[in-house]
Amino acid sequence: MRAVLESLDGGVMLIRLGDPSEKVVTFTPERLQSLREIIEKLKSKPPAGVVITGPSLEMFTVGADISLIQEVTDPKIGESLAKEGQAVFAEIERLPFKTVAAISGPCVGGGFELALACDFRLLSDSPSSTVGLPEVKLGIIPGFGGTVRLPKLIGIPKALDLILAGKTVRPKKALALGLVDEVIPSHALIERARSVAAGSLRLRRKSIGIKDSILSGMLKGVVRSSAKASVLKQTKGFYPAPLKALESVFAANYETEAKLLGEAIVTPESKALTHVFFLTELSKSLGKGAKKHLDNMSASVIGAGVMGAGIASILAASEIPVTLKDTAEAALTKARAQVRGFADSLTYLSPSERNVLVSRVNCTTQDPPIGVGIVIEAIVENMAVKKKVLSELASKLGDEAIIASNTSSLSISEMAKEIPNPARVIGMHFFNPVPKMPLVEIVMGEKTSDKTIALVAGLSVKLGKFPIVVKDVPGFLVNRILTPYLNEAAFLIQEGYKIEDIDKAATDFGLPMGPVRLLDEVGLDVASHVSEIMVKGYGSRMEAPALAAKLAATGALGKKSGVGFYDFSTKKPRRDLYSVLALPKEKQGSSDIQDRLILSLLNEAILCLDEGVAGAPGPEAAKQIDLGSVMGFGFPPFRGGILYWAQKTGIGKLLEKALELEKKYGARFKPKFKAERVFY
Ligand code: NAI
Repeated sequence: MRAVLESLDGGVMLIRLGDPSEKVVTFTPERLQSLREIIEKLKSKPPAGVVITGPSLEMFTVGADISLIQEVTDPKIGESLAKEGQAVFAEIERLPFKTVAAISGPCVGGGFELALACDFRLLSDSPSSTVGLPEVKLGIIPGFGGTVRLPKLIGIPKALDLILAGKTVRPKKALALGLVDEVIPSHALIERARSVAAGSLRLRRKSIGIKDSILSGMLKGVVRSSAKASVLKQTKGFYPAPLKALESVFAANYETEAKLLGEAIVTPESKALTHVFFLTELSKSLGKGAKKHLDNMSASVIGAGVMGAGIASILAASEIPVTLKDTAEAALTKARAQVRGFADSLTYLSPSERNVLVSRVNCTTQDPPIGVGIVIEAIVENMAVKKKVLSELASKLGDEAIIASNTSSLSISEMAKEIPNPARVIGMHFFNPVPKMPLVEIVMGEKTSDKTIALVAGLSVKLGKFPIVVKDVPGFLVNRILTPYLNEAAFLIQEGYKIEDIDKAATDFGLPMGPVRLLDEVGLDVASHVSEIMVKGYGSRMEAPALAAKLAATGALGKKSGVGFYDFSTKKPRRDLYSVLALPKEKQGSSDIQDRLILSLLNEAILCLDEGVAGAPGPEAAKQIDLGSVMGFGFPPFRGGILYWAQKTGIGKLLEKALELEKKYGARFKPKFKAERVFY
């Protein structure tokens, strides 16, 4: 697809970056070439000014084509791709008339770098408008001039804040930061941009400010070292791209930027991050077909506990009206406060928009209205209670109303047994805290229909989540893979290893927290309940020392009670841990800990793949498992997901390790894979 040239009034020309039928615009070689041709034309016959815009109010440009990024394996090719983009944008910057970017919809990465090469940037107030440079999230750096132009525009400190974290911002913030010159209603965008390009309207540019000027000048050495320290603290050295971006910002020249882009684009971290990007795209496509059925959908959530209130909040944020039912008034009072707190955390909304969000949640002790589109159940984790509540409810609702359960461990097929039309019964397993956790496991019961799956996947995407579709097995996918890993932590504690050493082995691998800390977060009562379910479902292979249950019996439930394995008042391991657990004294050293933890995850992930828990065994199922591992329990994104990581590490090498662990620690490490295994 190509950029096209159109005429506006007053001798101003409009460059439209794509065809209105294009939902997503990327800088393919073809589009860059068309832009080059347009620039030549404009140079030969200069207009009064130029406006550059996207194909529609929902899209400006998202930058480079990510499949091209993924294919580059030679740094020289990466460098020359950057230079090509830089050259086109430099031509735009040098044009002898005013250039105005009229932005509506996403304008990120290379798209925003194009806007930075224009004289002015106007941004529409459309909800889909965002600007920023998220390149580091793909393990690369802005390579089309962004690391040079952005610091010039807004000063080094603010530019670093955006570039190093790969942030994108909405209109209000973009204006406050000086990324754009004006925010205006979508319908007035082009005409306003035309007036600026024609010179009939003058805009005052926000100045950088004294403090940022000093920090970008005299004190830039200090800014550089503190930014480097903060990157290293945040990324723990796992992500090379932010450091390269930092180097590029301080080099402040296009040559260096292109060279550093070339270096970044071939790193294994960049390849893993682009792999994860494609996994999220695949997930988003799951519910595509259901889009139109989701318009005007109403929802009801049953159970206003921490999960129910969270689910109601995100439904309301997606403009879906929701009734939130609980039998206890006290729960509803708490839920109202939770929804309010959630709305107030959305700082990009105005106070009145936040009030509207809150008003979409109707907290009630009454049953949902008969015509409701979907009911999401989040009451106590008890099969008998859930069955009773759902079958009573189903008999009162229309036959087509979808009935979803947020159960974290109970069988959907069993739950559906007494419900008329069980094809509409499904699991919709959100993670806690609902607004933050990106994954939803969609659990298929024996009778769940494809239509129900598509609708619930579509709804999950609408709610801003990434769905994966999994089989109705105990623990579903994520908790099942996690169980042997959490169990291994219990074996290690039992052997006397220090909990901080166990957790450090996991965080040194790149996991966001270690398994012992995770148990404390989940709650030791909940964890031991899940453990029982897993042993019941899978037998003795899921058995482990019942340390969480032992602590829970003393009232130490983890974070929620202030003490678990850790003491949350000191944020340190509790001092009397080994005596409370009646275990031998703590052991020094950490031999094999990391391998024992990660191979436990891997073995179970491969079993899930082979048993079809994430669909017919093959690359598609491997993708769902990788996404589940990254989004469900924070498997390091720079490693691309558990199966992708295993393949890149070398299956043969991992097999040897597993056999060694089997010899040392027993049958639970018996490898579930052969040396020649491939996942992708
Ligand atoms: P919770 O105990 O905080 O809330 C349950 C709510 O349901 C209570 O307010 C209770 O009054 C209400 N309730 C009980 N019977 C009811 C009925 N017949 N009609 C209407 N309301 C009723 O529980 P939480 O943690 O929110 O969990 C709810 C469900 O979500 C459970 O199935 C749980 O397994 C699942 N889940 C929980 C996660 C967590 O981390 N807490 C994570 C993922 C799923």
